[in-house]
Amino acid sequence: MEHKRILVTAALPYANGPVHIGHLAGCYLPADIYTRYQRAQKRDVKLICGTDEHGVPITIRAQKEGTTPQAIVDKYHAIISESFKDMGINFDIFSRTSNQIHHETSQAFFKKLYDAGLFEEKESEQFYDEVNGQFLADRYIQGTCPICENPNAYGDQCEKCGSTLSPDQLINPRSALSSVQLVKRPTKHWYFPLNNYEGWLKEWIVEGKKDYWKPNVYGQCKSWIDSGLNPRAMTRDSNWGVPVPLPGAEGKVLYVWFDAPIGYISATKELTNQWSDYWCSEDTKLVHFIGKDNIVFHCIIFPAMLKAHGGFVLPENVPANEFLNIEGEKVSTSRNWAVWVHEYVKDFPDQQDLLRYVLCANAPESKDNDFTWKDFQERVNSELVAVFGNLVNRAFVLMHKLCKGRVPAVHPDAITPEDLALIEAIKATKVSVENSIESYKFREGLSEVIDLARKGNKYLQECAPWSLAKTPEMAAENQAKIDNCINLCLQLSANLAIYINPFLPFTAKKMCKMMKVVDRMLEWENGGRTDLLKTSYPLPAPELLFRKIEDAEVEAQVEKLRKNLVNNMNQAPAPTEAAKEPEIAPVKPVITIDDFMKIDLRVGTIISAEKVEKADKLLKLQLDMGFETRTVVSGIAMHFKPEDIIGKQVTVVANLAPRKMKGIESNGMILMAQNSDGSLKFVSPLETADNGSEVR
Ligand code: 2FM
Ligand code: ZN
Repeated sequence: MEHKRILVTAALPYANGPVHIGHLAGCYLPADIYTRYQRAQKRDVKLICGTDEHGVPITIRAQKEGTTPQAIVDKYHAIISESFKDMGINFDIFSRTSNQIHHETSQAFFKKLYDAGLFEEKESEQFYDEVNGQFLADRYIQGTCPICENPNAYGDQCEKCGSTLSPDQLINPRSALSSVQLVKRPTKHWYFPLNNYEGWLKEWIVEGKKDYWKPNVYGQCKSWIDSGLNPRAMTRDSNWGVPVPLPGAEGKVLYVWFDAPIGYISATKELTNQWSDYWCSEDTKLVHFIGKDNIVFHCIIFPAMLKAHGGFVLPENVPANEFLNIEGEKVSTSRNWAVWVHEYVKDFPDQQDLLRYVLCANAPESKDNDFTWKDFQERVNSELVAVFGNLVNRAFVLMHKLCKGRVPAVHPDAITPEDLALIEAIKATKVSVENSIESYKFREGLSEVIDLARKGNKYLQECAPWSLAKTPEMAAENQAKIDNCINLCLQLSANLAIYINPFLPFTAKKMCKMMKVVDRMLEWENGGRTDLLKTSYPLPAPELLFRKIEDAEVEAQVEKLRKNLVNNMNQAPAPTEAAKEPEIAPVKPVITIDDFMKIDLRVGTIISAEKVEKADKLLKLQLDMGFETRTVVSGIAMHFKPEDIIGKQVTVVANLAPRKMKGIESNGMILMAQNSDGSLKFVSPLETADNGSEVR
């Protein structure tokens, strides 16, 4: 069905960090290509995006940077928005979910479902981090996976075995923020009964979208639906987010995955008074561009919410991409293993299209893909420069050499079968690029454009107009053939500008300038025409469309990645990363200051040390405690030679009940720090203290 309008959304990035090229390749570049193409088709299309400014990651980032969530989202909204602009991602609006219009829209949405009696109100026991004084989102709960025993599984997923989990399934759940063992506390929330939509989702997706949605998207949805749907809490305990619009719901906000997709609606409202034409009409084709981690939310939960609310159009397609790895490794923002867009723009000024090209040519459309700087160089140099740029450049140079710098006329009598074949190819490419873009196969579309340029080069090589004009006499004799060839190469260049425009808009613009045509020439309907450039029109000398990438630039970028990684390892890891380290033991349950005050810690000096017979691990130590000498048996014999530790000051638990070990009474315990590799270090005062002094 031909739709009246197309509403395109691109996932709202969290405003808790800059965007990297994986984000671009995942959804923003495809969304932009698709929309630019639709605009060139003169269709009524809007591209909606903005920052997702709620949710736990933002509050965590604020904690980490010692600032407020508002300051974080202000900062990153500006950075992200600038990066997109720089890369030519042309949103009709780039809004923010912290805007008032969004708060009102998402609250009204919630209220409508609430008033319809759709939510189940449930009090339940949730995991609470007593150190941070907060309930934790699933992602911030870690523990051992019940399936594969990975000690660092998350409350929503085990990244090792891929199982979807709930926090209750984790063994020994702990806080990913403080590593403390979690306790449970009661709290009330509103649950959306996703289970009631199971039948409808089966019909709409499992039956309705088979062979229509991309296999990676359809597959994920099907397996989710097949495994059974459960009610999902749509509210959270937090003071950052959209407040739950109900009396007595203080301290509760809408779940970020409830409010964020509604952000598409709020942003459209902000953009145009006609917003309901887009959202509330069956004539609209709604397309969500996202990354694969967002599939369930956009294909199942949000549509069920829209259905429950009523009156909204449902997504016609959700062309999610997979992930882009960097130099063979998964992107990790906390390890700084990423190519940041704002850094690319600085390192390669005015070369946005090179990155757009490589990210599209190598897009992770059906499986995870790898970005390497070497591949970036190869694709730029051997495809953009050597094929596309070369064809356009040669056409212009030859026009200046052989046709007095003007678009030559066409001589119908001299048209060759080769000319006709190329004209056919120009027309056919229009159709095939169209089909590829309409079916979200952007890689394929782009490679068809490059293929056409390749055909152009081959044609030019075979025609070899320079060889027809070796002498003035020859030139005069062959002028018709030469003119036809150059004219066709120039018309081909104009077509290439039209076809490449959705993918590489900066290049298309540059080409228009070179061809002295207005941007309107880029309208899609002009594709396939071979009369786009007027004959006898003088054209300037060509500008190089692309520049080569040098080996040194590749080396510098790879080096930069590695350096980031090393610098990052030398810094304290981010809180979430720290919790990922298997070696770090979870923090024990909270104690009171009174509990702590019961422990009598003192400084003492080791005055003698000897091995305990028949005990590999034990050393018998004599400690000068200032007020007495006492014997302590310590399990450190595998780590220290007795003679090396005499004279060391240590910290001693002085009021520990005496205990016999291998027949020797031990009166206390010395404190040791244990490193992740198992090695031990004495916990000693940095400067010599009096023996017997209290440690508090
Ligand atoms: O995964 C993410 O980055 C989310 N912020 C995407 C939200 S998309 C939409 F629902 F707003
Ligand atoms: Zn697992």
